[in-house]
Amino acid sequence: MSDPTMSGAGPTVSPRRIGAAPQTAPQRGPAGIDGPTVFDIKDANVFYGAFHAVKGVNFTVVKNEITALIGPSGCGKSTLLRSLNRMNDLIPGARVEGTVSYHGKNIYDPGVDPVEVRRRIGMVFQKANPFPKSIYDNVAYGPKIHGASRTERDGIVEDSLKKAALWDEVKDNLKKSALALSGGQQQRLCIARTIALQPDVVLMDEPCSALDPIATARIEELMVDLAKQFTIVIVTHNMQQAARVSDKTAFFSTEVNERSDTRTGVLVEFDDTQRIFTTPADQRTENYVTGRFG
Ligand SMILES: Nc1ncnc2c1ncn2[C@@H]1O[C@H](COP(=O)(O)OP(=O)(O)OP(=O)(O)O)[C@@H](O)[C@H]1O
Ligand SMILES: [Mg+2]
Repeated sequence: MSDPTMSGAGPTVSPRRIGAAPQTAPQRGPAGIDGPTVFDIKDANVFYGAFHAVKGVNFTVVKNEITALIGPSGCGKSTLLRSLNRMNDLIPGARVEGTVSYHGKNIYDPGVDPVEVRRRIGMVFQKANPFPKSIYDNVAYGPKIHGASRTERDGIVEDSLKKAALWDEVKDNLKKSALALSGGQQQRLCIARTIALQPDVVLMDEPCSALDPIATARIEELMVDLAKQFTIVIVTHNMQQAARVSDKTAFFSTEVNERSDTRTGVLVEFDDTQRIFTTPADQRTENYVTGRFG
C-alpha cells in the first residue's frame, strides 16, 4: 500500500531539472521519453563468466538529460553503466547480451570499434584518477593522441577546464602536477580530461562519493551545466543527488537465484525522477527511496 507521507520522507526533487523539458510538442513515449533517444537498451544481460550479474534491462536515455542509476550495493549499477561504452570488454570473462543501441546502432555489433565507442561515450570514475602528469598534460593527452596540434591542444585545454569549472583555479599553474590538486579539483580535472575528447555522452560512476558536501555541490552544478551540451548517465548512492540533478531515474535491485544462491541485478522501475521519488509504481522502489530498504 502506498504511504501518503512518503513524498515528505523522500528527497526533495529539484524544480531546476523537473519541468526543463520543452514546452511545445514533447514526444512523450511509453517510457516517458521527451526528446531524441541516445541509448535504447533492450533486454541487456551482463555475465561475469557463469555468473548472471544483470538481467533483462530495458530503458532509454534521452539526449541532454541526466539519467540516474540507483539501487543497493551489488545490484549491477556499475556493471550496467560499463556496458554502455563497452568498458566491460576490458574485464576478462565479462559478456553482454541483448542490444545497447546508441543513436540507432548496436555498439556490440561486429565491426564496431570499441575505442571509438569509448571516445564518444566517455567515463568518469568514483575515485578521481588523474595521470601523474601536469594539469595541462592530463587534459591534452587524449587530443594529442588523436593528432591535435600544440595550438589546438592549448585551446582544448582551456575550453575543457572552463567547461569543467576548474579553469579559474588552475590557469596560472597548468604545469603543476595534477596529483597536487584537492580531491574535488582532481575530479573536475578528470571531467575536463573526458570532455577534451569531445564526447557525446559522459558516464559517471559515483563521481562524488569521495568528496565533501561543498565539492559535491560543485560537481552537481557542473553536471546540470554539462547536460546542456552532453548527455549524462550517473550512478549514485546519494538519493538527494539523484533527485536534485536527474531527469530520469532507473531503480535497480537484486533477485535471489535459489539454486545457485547468487543475486542477479534487475531493473525494477524506470521513470521520470519526480515520479520515482514521489509516486513510484513498485513497492520495492518506494521502500528504497523512503529509506525502508533492507
Ligand atoms: N569484475 C567482476 N568480476 C566478477 N563479478 C563482478 C565483477 N564486477 C562486479 N561483479 C559482480 O557483479 C554484481 C554487480 O556488481 P556491480 O559492481 O555492478 O554493483 P553496483 O550496483 O555497482 O554496486 P556498488 O553500489 O557497491 O558499487 C555483484 O554481484 C559483483 O560482485
Ligand atoms: Mg558500483
